[in-house]
This record gives sequence, C-alpha cells and structure tokens, in this order.
Amino acid sequence: MDRSCIFLAIFILLLHDNTLLANISTDQAALLALKSHISSHSNNILARNWSSSVPVCSWIGITCSSHPHRVTALDIFSMQLHGTIPPHLGNLSFLVSLDISDNTFHGDLPLELAHLQRLKSINVTSNNFTRAIPSFLSLLPNLRFVYLSSNQFSGKIPSSISNLTKLQVLRIKINFLQGEIPREIGDLRYLTIIYLQFNNLSGSIPPSIFNITTIQIISFSINTYHYLSNNSLDGVIPPNLEKCRKLQILALAYNDFIGTVPRELANLTALTELRIAALHLEGSTIYP
Ligand SMILES: *[C@@H]1O[C@H](CO)[C@@H](O)[C@H](O)[C@H]1NC(C)=O
Ligand SMILES: *[C@@H]1O[C@H](CO)[C@@H](O)[C@H](O)[C@H]1NC(C)=O
Ligand SMILES: *[C@@H]1O[C@H](CO)[C@@H](O)[C@H](O)[C@H]1NC(C)=O
Ligand SMILES: *[C@@H]1O[C@H](CO)[C@@H](O)[C@H](O)[C@H]1NC(C)=O
Ligand SMILES: *[C@@H]1O[C@H](CO)[C@@H](O)[C@H](O)[C@H]1NC(C)=O
Ligand SMILES: *[C@@H]1O[C@H](CO)[C@@H](O)[C@H](O)[C@H]1NC(C)=O
Ligand SMILES: *[C@@H]1O[C@H](CO)[C@@H](O)[C@H](O)[C@H]1NC(C)=O
Ligand SMILES: *[C@@H]1O[C@H](CO)[C@@H](O)[C@H](O)[C@H]1NC(C)=O
Ligand SMILES: *[C@@H]1O[C@H](CO)[C@@H](O)[C@H](O)[C@H]1NC(C)=O
Ligand SMILES: *[C@@H]1O[C@H](CO)[C@@H](O)[C@H](O)[C@H]1NC(C)=O
Repeated sequence: MDRSCIFLAIFILLLHDNTLLANISTDQAALLALKSHISSHSNNILARNWSSSVPVCSWIGITCSSHPHRVTALDIFSMQLHGTIPPHLGNLSFLVSLDISDNTFHGDLPLELAHLQRLKSINVTSNNFTRAIPSFLSLLPNLRFVYLSSNQFSGKIPSSISNLTKLQVLRIKINFLQGEIPREIGDLRYLTIIYLQFNNLSGSIPPSIFNITTIQIISFSINTYHYLSNNSLDGVIPPNLEKCRKLQILALAYNDFIGTVPRELANLTALTELRIAALHLEGSTIYP
C-alpha cells in the first residue's frame, strides 16, 4: 500500500467514527429525530420547546458541557411522551445521563445506544418497553445506575451483566423476567442496591450476591397480592451472609424458600429491615 492509500484508509476510518466528526449539530439532529418519533398531542411540551430556532442547549431537559460543546444529559421524564426511541439517539456520543422515565415509550431500545460509551446512568422506569433486557447494556462499561423497573421486559437477566464492573444500582422490579438470577451478579463488586421483586424468576438466589461487601439492599420479594405472578426462588437462604456488613434491607417475602433462617443474620449489624413473611422456613410457613 503506498502512502496516499494509507492516508485514504485513515480518512475513511475517521469518517466512520462519529465521535470524531460529530458536533452539537449532530446532537440537535438526534434530538429532532427523537421529537419526530413522539406522537404529538396537546401535552407534548417538546413540540413547542424543541425548536431549531433556539440553541439546543436551552431546550427543556437538555444539559450540555462547554468543552466540547455537546449534550451530556437528556432528562425528559414525566412529560406524557408517547412514541419510540429512534437509533439516532446513539449519536449523542457525550451523553452521561439518560432519563426518559415515567412516559409511555414502547418498542425496543435501539442497539445503536451501544455507542453511548460515556453513559453512567439510564432510567427508563415506567414505560412500555417490551421483549428482552437490552443486550447492548453490557457494552457500556461506564454504567453505574440502571433503572428498568415497571416495563414489560421479559426473558432472562443476561449473565453478561457482569461486564458492568462499575454497576452500583440495578432496579428491574415489576417486569416479566423469567429464569434464574445469573450467578455472575456476584462479580459486581460495587453493587449496593438490587431490586428484582414482582417478576417470575425461579431457581435459587446465587450465593455469590452475598459475597458483595458493598451491598445494602437486596429485594426479591413479592409483597402484594395484586400481581399475576410471583417469584418462586426455592433455595435455602445462603449462610455466607457475614460479608454483607452494609446490608440494610433483605426482602425475600412471598417466595418458596425452604430451609432455616441462618444464624449469621444476627451478625448483620446494619440490617434494619428483614422481610421474610410467608416463607416456607423450617418446614412450615412463617407469617408476620
Ligand atoms: C458540525 O460539523 C459539520 C460538518 O461535519 C459542519 O458543517 C457544521 O458547521 C458543524 N456545526 C457546528 C455548530 O460546529
Ligand atoms: C423551553 O423550556 C426552557 C426550560 O423550561 C425554557 O427556559 C425556554 O424558554 C423554553 N423555550 C421555548 C422556545 O419555549
Ligand atoms: C446518526 O444516527 C443515524 C441512525 O443511527 C444515522 O443514520 C446518521 O447518519 C447518524 N449521524 C448523524 C451525523 O446524524
Ligand atoms: C428514575 O425514574 C423514576 C420514575 O420517574 C424516578 O422515580 C426515579 O427517581 C428515577 N431515578 C433516578 C435515579 O433518577
Ligand atoms: C403497553 O403495551 C400493552 C401491550 O403491548 C398495551 O396493551 C398497553 O395499552 C400499552 N400501554 C400504554 C400506556 O401504551
Ligand atoms: C464486555 O465488555 C467488553 C469490553 O467493554 C466487550 O468487548 C465485550 O463484547 C463485552 N461483552 C458482552 C457480552 O457484551
Ligand atoms: C465468595 O468469595 C470467596 C473469596 O473471595 C470465594 O472463595 C467464594 O467462592 C465466593 N463464593 C461465591 C458463592 O461466589
Ligand atoms: C404465588 O404463586 C403461587 C402459584 O404460582 C400462588 O399459589 C400464590 O398464591 C402466589 N402468591 C402470591 C403472594 O401472589
Ligand atoms: C412464570 O414462569 C412459569 C414457568 O417458568 C410459566 O409457566 C408462567 O407462565 C410464567 N408466568 C408469567 C406471568 O409469566
Ligand atoms: C458473629 O461474629 C462473631 C465475631 O466476628 C463470630 O465469632 C461469630 O461466629 C459470628 N456468628 C455467626 C453466627 O456467624
């Protein structure tokens, strides 16, 4: 390959790396694409506010950094927005925080969101997303806060979740998840809060979760009768709890546990709440 070919090859590589050529105009185009995927009705605040005639950084819900001048946060929660998420959002390459919670977005979260390599927090709570937990999440190594509760996600919790080595909070309650909780969850060294209640998970709670020294809240219980399904985690409460010095809440109610309450629980000095109502412990059901 001669020199000019090498330069051409590099040039083509640069063209394909949207983080190098992208600028605030790219962000604006991505957000306008989102706006066009939201069905308009009288309450659609974005229809009025997200106007090309004013700078994108002054639009409602948008936060920008100055150097580089790019969009870093998209906070459009509780705006009664109905629609789908277009792949263009993956062009917001400087995005750190995405909160589209408490709307009625539906469909899938597009794969292109895997381009959001700086993303630390994603909140899609209380929408109408369906199908599997997005597989691209495991490609976002900076994620610390993942909020997927109150949607219609189904299928298993992917074991690739262990790729999120910085994960601190995982909330996926009130969905239609099935199968076992992956053992790899125990690899998440910084996990403090995990909420999985109101799903259809089965098997046993992986003992590895109780190996996470930072864990503060573990909640797998069903604590109301108003839901169609409940978890049936039919394992023995693991005895290796002594590492969970920071555990404050352990909620396991309305599952099908068998076995005994481990003595080690008494050593969890930070524990303020223990919900084990209606568990089948020591052969009989314990009620509060
Ligand atoms: C963004 O980049 C495009 C070319 O890639 C350029 O035409 C445009 O003027 C730039 N916009 C700003 C605001 O820098
Ligand atoms: C959009 O909303 C922001 C924040 O509420 C407000 O400051 C701005 O004036 C609005 N712009 C338009 C064009 O409505
Ligand atoms: C942004 O993303 C869309 C869809 O993923 C793509 O078609 C478009 O070319 C991208 N780039 C820019 C600069 O808008
Ligand atoms: C995520 O969204 C829900 C619903 O809008 C909200 O209650 C919660 O506070 C949000 N979490 C964060 C960390 O912003
Ligand atoms: C959510 O999706 C379900 C099934 O796909 C549908 O029946 C329901 O009307 C949707 N709800 C909203 C608020 O869009
Ligand atoms: C895990 O992360 C690495 C590096 O970020 C990536 O190359 C790999 O594809 C990821 N694995 C999965 C299953 O997403
Ligand atoms: C917990 O950690 C110890 C040492 O770090 C390891 O030997 C053990 O296998 C782990 N237990 C589980 C269930 O992952
Ligand atoms: C849990 O599910 C079982 C059978 O699937 C059912 O008999 C039981 O009533 C349910 N419990 C709750 C609390 O919903
Ligand atoms: C829960 O899982 C069981 C089998 O794993 C299945 O038969 C049942 O239909 C599921 N319930 C819901 C509400 O998804
Ligand atoms: C509680 O902790 C003390 C001191 O670390 C230890 O001696 C004892 O065996 C522990 N008890 C249980 C039940 O783990």
